[in-house]
Amino acid sequence: KAKLLSDYQAPDFTIDQIELTIELDAENTKVTSTLRVQRQGKHDRPLILDGEQLQLQSLHIDGQAVPQQQYHQTDSTLTISDIGDELTVDIVVTINPAANTSLEGLYLSDGAFCTQCEAEGFRKITYYLDRPDVLARFTTKIIGDVEQFPFMLSNGNQIAKQQLADGRTAVTWQDPFPKPCYLFALVAGDFDLLEDSFTTMSGRDVCLQLFVDKGNLDRADYAMESLKNSMAWDEKVYGLEYDLDIYMVVAVDFFNMGAMENKGLNVFNSKYVLANPSSATDQDFNGIESVIGHEYFHNWTGNRVTCRDWFQLSLKEGLTVFRDQCFSEDMTGSAVNRIDDVAIIRSHQFAEDAGPMAHPIRPQSVIEMNNFYTVTVYNKGAEVIRMMHTLLGADGFRRGMDLYFERHDGQAVTCDDFVAAMEDANSFDLSHFKTWYQQAGTPEVTVTDHYDADSQTYTLEFSQQTPATADQADKKATHVPLRLGLYDSDGAALPLNTDSPLTDGNVYSLITDTDTLVFNGVASHPTPALLKGFSAPIKLSYDYSDEQLLTLSQHCDDGFTRWDAMQTLLARYIWGIADGVINEVPTQVIAGLVAISQNQHIDDALKARLLQLPTVNGLLNQREQIDIHALLDALETIRQQVAPALHQTCTSLYSELQQSQYSLDAASIAKRSLSASCLSWIAEANGQQADQLCQSLYDSSDNMTEQLNALTIANRFDLPCRSSLMDQFEQRWQDDGLVMDKWLNLQGCWNSEQCFDNLKTVEAKPFFKLTNPNRARSLIAGFAAMNYRYFHAEDGSGYQWLSQKIQNLNSINPQIAARLINPLTQWRKFTAPQSIQMKACLEQIYQLKDLSKDLHEIVGKSLEY
Ligand code: ARG
Ligand code: ZN
Repeated sequence: KAKLLSDYQAPDFTIDQIELTIELDAENTKVTSTLRVQRQGKHDRPLILDGEQLQLQSLHIDGQAVPQQQYHQTDSTLTISDIGDELTVDIVVTINPAANTSLEGLYLSDGAFCTQCEAEGFRKITYYLDRPDVLARFTTKIIGDVEQFPFMLSNGNQIAKQQLADGRTAVTWQDPFPKPCYLFALVAGDFDLLEDSFTTMSGRDVCLQLFVDKGNLDRADYAMESLKNSMAWDEKVYGLEYDLDIYMVVAVDFFNMGAMENKGLNVFNSKYVLANPSSATDQDFNGIESVIGHEYFHNWTGNRVTCRDWFQLSLKEGLTVFRDQCFSEDMTGSAVNRIDDVAIIRSHQFAEDAGPMAHPIRPQSVIEMNNFYTVTVYNKGAEVIRMMHTLLGADGFRRGMDLYFERHDGQAVTCDDFVAAMEDANSFDLSHFKTWYQQAGTPEVTVTDHYDADSQTYTLEFSQQTPATADQADKKATHVPLRLGLYDSDGAALPLNTDSPLTDGNVYSLITDTDTLVFNGVASHPTPALLKGFSAPIKLSYDYSDEQLLTLSQHCDDGFTRWDAMQTLLARYIWGIADGVINEVPTQVIAGLVAISQNQHIDDALKARLLQLPTVNGLLNQREQIDIHALLDALETIRQQVAPALHQTCTSLYSELQQSQYSLDAASIAKRSLSASCLSWIAEANGQQADQLCQSLYDSSDNMTEQLNALTIANRFDLPCRSSLMDQFEQRWQDDGLVMDKWLNLQGCWNSEQCFDNLKTVEAKPFFKLTNPNRARSLIAGFAAMNYRYFHAEDGSGYQWLSQKIQNLNSINPQIAARLINPLTQWRKFTAPQSIQMKACLEQIYQLKDLSKDLHEIVGKSLEY
C-alpha cells in the first residue's frame, strides 16, 4: 500500500483548464466540472481520475455521454479508456458535506461551507488528477442562497454575480494563475468582514479582506496588521510582491491544522486569526503573526513554485517555516525566538527521529500523506534551509532564491531543483549536504579538546555519527555547519585564528566522520561554544565543566548558547538525581541561577528562559530507556532544592514587573514572561504566598496573558485558589470555544489524583466537542502530552483513557486521531511496566475494524519497529 518516491512517474495526462460549478446543499451538493484534458507523450493508457466518496451522476466526453463499458469506477478511481489525445470531460457528481467530519474536501464548519484540499482532499469534491504536478486554470461558479451565504468565495478574482431564475445566486471566480488542485478553495457563509489595503512596491493596490464569525471584528486587527507586515517583509527581504488584486483570509472554527495557503483565499483555524488582549495570550499573538506570515509567504514558496510530488513537501514547508521564523525574528528583534524554535526541535523533532515514524525531511515511502505533515518535514526542513543560509550567507542565499524563482516560476519542482539553484547561484558544492534530504535520524557530534600552553594552540577533535532509525540502518557522515566561539574564563570572546579557514560568522564545516581543527595564539585554555545559534539540528556533546557552563550561561554573546549551557547544566543534575548517583544540586549551580536572576544586564525575555528547567520532553530525548516516574521525581527534587534560593529575588522581581502597564510590544511581553517564571519559583518555594499572588493577579489583571499565567500556576501547583479560579473562568468564557481551549488544556494537565474523575466531568461539558479539533486537542493532548504523572499512571489507566478517545476519533476524524495517538507510539522509550501497557493499548487499537489508513500506518509502524 505504500507509495515510493523512487516510483515517481510524470502524469500520463494533464488538465490545463477546469470549470467548476458547485451548487451548495448541506447534504447533497452538486459538483459539475468541465476538464480540458491532454495526453502527455505517446502512449495508449487510459485516463485514471482520482475520486473518493463521490456519487457519479453523469459523464460526457466532448459532449457525448460515455457508455458504461468505456469507464470503470472503484472506491478511489474513475478510469476512462479508448480516448483521444485532447478531450473535454464533463463530470457531474454529488457529495454530502454535512456528513464530512474528516474536515477534508468540502465540509461544514458551524454552518459555513469550506474546503481543505491539501494534500489529497480535492478528490473528495470531484474526479480529477489529484496530484501537484498537474497545473490548471480554475474558473469556479458557486450557486447558493444569498441570504444564507452572503459571501461565496473562491480563488482569484470575482468575475460575475447573477441572480438565477429559481432565486439562487451564482458567483463566479477566476484564478489567472495555473495551480494544482490542492490550492483550490471555496468558502460560503455569513461573516463579518475587516477590509484594508496594501500598496505593493511596484505601486499596485491590493484589497485585503479578513472574514470572521459574526461578532468577532474586535479580534481581527492583529491578523490584519500581521498580514501587511508580511507583505512588506517579503518585498524587503526577498523582493517578492503579491500578484493578485485581492487577498482573502477566512477564519473557521473547525480546521484540522493551523491554516491553508489556497491561492488568494487562505482558510485559517480561527485560533490563528482571532485575538484581543482580553481573550488571547502573548503566545497566541505570536502564533497569529507567524501563521499569517507563513501562509502569505507560501504565495511564492509553494504556490508560484510548487511541489512535483508530495515527497517534496519540505520544498515548500521547510522553506516557508524558515521564512516565517526569520519574519518573526525581525518583527520582535529578539534572541528568544531562536530558543523557542530550538525547543520544538529538541522536544518533538528529536523524538520523531528516534521513534517508529522516523523519516528524512524528504520521505521515501508514504502510506497516508496526511501523516507526513510532521515536525520533521516542517521544522527540521526549516533547519536544513537555515543551514544553507548559514553556509552561503544572507546575500548568497538571496542569490539562490532569485535564481530559484527565475528558473522555476510556474513549475512543480523537487528539492533537488532548490538545492541546485543555491549551488549554481553561488558556485558552492552542496552535493554532500544533500544527505540531509536522504537520511532520517539526529546526527550526534562529539567534540574533545586539547590545549597546549607551550605552542599556545588549542585543538578541537570532532567526530560524527547518526544512529540507525526505524526506516534506515546505515548512515553516512553528513555536512554539519558548526558556528564556533572561544571564550576566556571571564566569558570574553577570543579572536579565532585557525589553520583552516572558517566561513563568515566563524562557521566550520564538519564533513567527514572525524576531523581536527587547530586554533593558534590562544593564551589560556578557553571555553568553546560549538553550536552557536543552534547552527545544525544535531546533538552535540562536549565534556564541559560546571564552571564552563556557568560562564557561558552568564556571558556568551549568543543567546541560544547561554540558554543551552544552563539547560545542559541542569539536565546533568536532574539525571544524576534520577539515577540515584547524587542527592543534591551543587551550591555553585544554584548560585549561578541566583546570579542570573539578579543580573540586570540580561534582558527579561532571555532571563525568563534561563530560569526555566529543562522540559520533560526534552529530557526524554536525551536517553534511551526511561523510568518516567524516577525522572519526574528528580525534577521535583531539583525544583525543591533550587526554589528557596531563588525565592527572594523572584519575589522582588515579580513585584517590580507587576508595575508595568499592558502593551503588546516586545519589552512588555518579555516582562510578562519573566514574571511567569518568577511566579512559578515562588509557588515552588511558598504555596501560600503563591496562592495569594495568583488570586490577586487573576482578579486585577485586564489581559488573558496574566490571567492565564495565574491560572496555569494555580493549576500546576494545585493551589487552594485553583478551583474557584477555574470556575470563574468557565463562567466568564463558556460560550467562547477558543478561550475555553485554554481551560480544557489546564484540566487535561491537572496534576491531581482526581484528574480521571475530573476528565469525565469535563468531557461532558457542552463546549467540549470531539468533532472540533481545537477542543479535542486541548483536552486530549493536555492530558496525554503534558500530564506525565497521570498519563503514565502505574495502573495504565492514562493509556486506556487516551486509547478510548483515539477509538472514538478514528471514525470521526482520522487525521486528528493519528496526531493525538503520538504519546502512545513512544512506548519503546519507557521501561516496564509502562512500555508493556502502552504497547497493549496500541495492539488493541490495531485490531479495530474500520481502522483508518492514517492510524493503520502509524500504529503499524510503532508495533513493528
Ligand atoms: N500547507 C498547510 C500549511 O503549512 C498545511 C496543510 C496541512 N494539510 C494536511 N492535510 N495535513 O500551512
Ligand atoms: Zn505551510
